[in-house]
Amino acid sequence: MKVISSEQIAEMEKSYRTAMMNSISGYKPINLLGTISDDGKPNLCVVSSVFHMGSNPPLLGMVIRPARPHNDSLKNIRSVKQYTLNNVQENFYVNAHQTSASYPSGVSEFKECGFNEYYLEDFKAPFVGESSVKIGLIPEQILDIDLNGTTIVIGKIQHLILDDAAVLPDGTIDHVGVGTAAGTGLDSYFLPGLLERLPYAKPGVPVKTGKV
Ligand SMILES: Cc1cc2nc3c(=O)[nH]c(=O)nc-3n(C[C@H](O)[C@H](O)[C@H](O)COP(=O)(O)O)c2cc1C
Repeated sequence: MKVISSEQIAEMEKSYRTAMMNSISGYKPINLLGTISDDGKPNLCVVSSVFHMGSNPPLLGMVIRPARPHNDSLKNIRSVKQYTLNNVQENFYVNAHQTSASYPSGVSEFKECGFNEYYLEDFKAPFVGESSVKIGLIPEQILDIDLNGTTIVIGKIQHLILDDAAVLPDGTIDHVGVGTAAGTGLDSYFLPGLLERLPYAKPGVPVKTGKV
């Protein structure tokens, strides 16, 4: 067993610390973030920081790293005020990973990494044609975090484009069924399996499980 203090974390070799801190919180959703510039140049990058913030209104948060000159995504979100999140599936996670490469500003990762743009008539931001779960959002709040220079973008869902196979009868998205990938750190991709769906938990009531 390792017991590690914050001082020891600070003293870790940089790449070791990065690998540990990037993966310490466990499996995360992997999405492709689609944006477009004011002058119509599409952009795509893989993100693993999307989190649920509420169902009514339907809000999703996302953490964006401190900006570097070639980073287009946040610039585009700030100016066009639209973006998309698209699930990454087992059949194209390698292409999705490639979108994280530092392509020069203005270069389309859709084109470079082999993805098809998909558009709705009344929405400028590009969706990923290959994804079975496509989400169109408008940024409602953008929070610049003084602590480490990151930015939290909170978006409200405007459009959902869902393959029939992706939606279970009760509305739950069947991520296992459509092969949605999960990830840890910046390099590990997983295909999760369902253990079980459990009923709403109540104090003092043992959870009824189908498992022995
Ligand atoms: C698995 C994985 C997850 C990532 N998650 C995020 C993320 O949540 N937020 C972020 O800002 N960058 C994340 N990145 C890095 C971006 O994909 C990368 O910086 C990309 O070049 C940014 O695109 P842009 O320059 O078009 O804005 C991730 C990279 C990988 C490989």
